[in-house]
Amino acid sequence: GPLRVLVLGASLRAESFNVRLASLVARMMTEAGAAVDLATMREFEMPLYDGDMEAAEGLPDGALALRDRLEWCDAFVIASPEYNGSVPGVVKNAIDWVSRVRPQPFKTKHALLVSASPSLIGGNRGLWTLRIPLEHLGTRVYPDMFSLASAHQGFTEEGQLADTGLQQRLAETVTAFLSLAEADARYVCLQRR
Ligand code: FNR
Repeated sequence: GPLRVLVLGASLRAESFNVRLASLVARMMTEAGAAVDLATMREFEMPLYDGDMEAAEGLPDGALALRDRLEWCDAFVIASPEYNGSVPGVVKNAIDWVSRVRPQPFKTKHALLVSASPSLIGGNRGLWTLRIPLEHLGTRVYPDMFSLASAHQGFTEEGQLADTGLQQRLAETVTAFLSLAEADARYVCLQRR
């Protein structure tokens, strides 16, 4: 079957640029033949990680819901904001909760990281820090990342990127990521025979 990809817009904000970027990546991947599950962090609200809470009650519902969506997918995309040059606490907290699940659902999955910000750097520094927990968990984080600068001016009414060169570059990154994840999924299937 088609490659299953979870595309997560990792902001709680209703007008989030990262949610918009996630929608665009989801559309590109659907057009490329992938089975796409588009989500935002709003669907996975959860308390701050607390070991006592975990011992008493296990994982909160938001973390379990994110675990379910991750378990479904072969590969995932995170479109994350950058806060103070780093990964937002909301995103790190969700990773920390879900990392407690066994089997650990981040392990061996391919991930593409993208970001959008009204700044001129586009949130790229945040993505480098998002790599740290994901790679720690065994996620195969794609080497190339995409960051949209000046995101407040970056989108057309139809949700494409206003800069056609950037739109092309994002499409190429998405295609290259999908080929790698698909090739690896086929390889894993062969190994299991
Ligand atoms: C920001 N923002 C920001 N932007 C950036 O490019 N580099 C940064 O270090 C920061 N730092 C930062 C800290 C905090 C606490 C906030 C609230 C915001 C601005 C950020 O990119 C902007 O709010 C985006 O719109 C957030 O992404 P969404 O919600 O639009 O997806």
